[in-house]
Amino acid sequence: MRRISDIGAAVIGSGFIGTVHVEALRRLGVRVRGLLEVSPELGVQRAADLGLPRAYGSMEEMLADERVEVVHVTSPNALHVPHVKAIVAAGKHVVCEKPLATTSAESAELVRLAREAGVVNAVNFNIRFYPLNQHAAAMVGAGELGEVRLVTGHYFQDWLLLDTDWNWRLDPAEGGMLRAVGDIGSHWLDLVSFVGGRRIESVMADLATFVKVRYQPTGPVQTFSTERAADAIPREMATDDAATILLRFEGGARGALAVSQVSPGRKNSLQWEIDGSAAAAAWDSESPDALWVGRRERPSELLLRNPALMNAAGVAAASLPGGHVEGFADTFKALYRAVYADVAASGPAARPIYPTFADGHDEMLVNDAIATSAREGRWVAVDRGA
Ligand SMILES: NC(=O)c1ccc[n+]([C@@H]2O[C@H](COP(=O)([O-])OP(=O)(O)OC[C@H]3O[C@@H](n4cnc5c(N)ncnc54)[C@H](O)[C@@H]3O)[C@@H](O)[C@H]2O)c1
Repeated sequence: MRRISDIGAAVIGSGFIGTVHVEALRRLGVRVRGLLEVSPELGVQRAADLGLPRAYGSMEEMLADERVEVVHVTSPNALHVPHVKAIVAAGKHVVCEKPLATTSAESAELVRLAREAGVVNAVNFNIRFYPLNQHAAAMVGAGELGEVRLVTGHYFQDWLLLDTDWNWRLDPAEGGMLRAVGDIGSHWLDLVSFVGGRRIESVMADLATFVKVRYQPTGPVQTFSTERAADAIPREMATDDAATILLRFEGGARGALAVSQVSPGRKNSLQWEIDGSAAAAAWDSESPDALWVGRRERPSELLLRNPALMNAAGVAAASLPGGHVEGFADTFKALYRAVYADVAASGPAARPIYPTFADGHDEMLVNDAIATSAREGRWVAVDRGA
């Protein structure tokens, strides 16, 4: 088996999350050979900022670099499909940000292309890789909660509260037709399917666009920026600021999710609770080193992340001893440690332990059901074919 430090990677996009990818790869010892940006000029500047050896002038130039074996796609959503197609056609392994595509027809094609090419393929549902989410998934899998009955929670942010807040995500041509649901709801829906160990079978969704007109600055805007631009043009909004969604899971469990990017004071608050017939568990992304385990016949517990107290799945995702808080950026390192073990073995394991394109596509099918349900005002089954 090769060492991770012998593997070379490149990153497409170097915005908010591309930077986090580069940092996590470096912590693992992966050789980040360079980056590709929207323009060669920006690429040169960002490569210098990040201390990377090379800014590629084009996709062709990057893919021709034989030392690049894995490419991370962190460009805006609508570019994921053309970028991934080019990478897979070049026979390189790929890690793509969520959502995998902007339509499920395209995500299905990416699943097929990656399988045919035999490359390692991962979708960046990093939240699965908080150690206590790994621990909780293994607890549920071992039956420690009993029969899973109720799955509830929310994902709230406030950075798109005002009509002057702008980002490419607000343009359906760049972000896709589902916005709060596609951008952050996708994480929650993937996460509870993973932790709860069952897929979503059907949905009843209500989408809301509260801010009907937004002001788009004429210049560029950074993700999560709350600065107001002097020159802006009004744009009518059709995508969801918020959503409330009822869920039915395979096996009979019920669920409810609230998603919003207009919740004042909530910066990045993802919470879930799973109530089983024997015990419950709950987790909050803003206190990620704590897992609440609810009991009826004895006191409930608060498990603080600690390799000495977690199950094997939790231990595998942890980097630090108990009491040394791990957070958002650490999940990328834990996720890539799993992905690059397969890269070192030259191909995907029979059952990868990280989220694959198939998982990214499945979440797109759930999104389709959510969009149809909201449009038609009825329960809609997730269409996974025959
Ligand atoms: N997993 C997570 O927690 C998480 C968090 C944030 C964003 N994301 C996802 O990551 C992606 C990027 O989001 P972001 O918040 O970093 O956005 P961003 O706007 O901060 O960064 C996007 C980057 O892509 C670059 N880019 C644009 N067009 C390009 C092109 N044609 N070729 C190469 N680079 C190009 C931009 O210049 C910019 O540097 C989105 O798909 C988003 O959904 C995931």
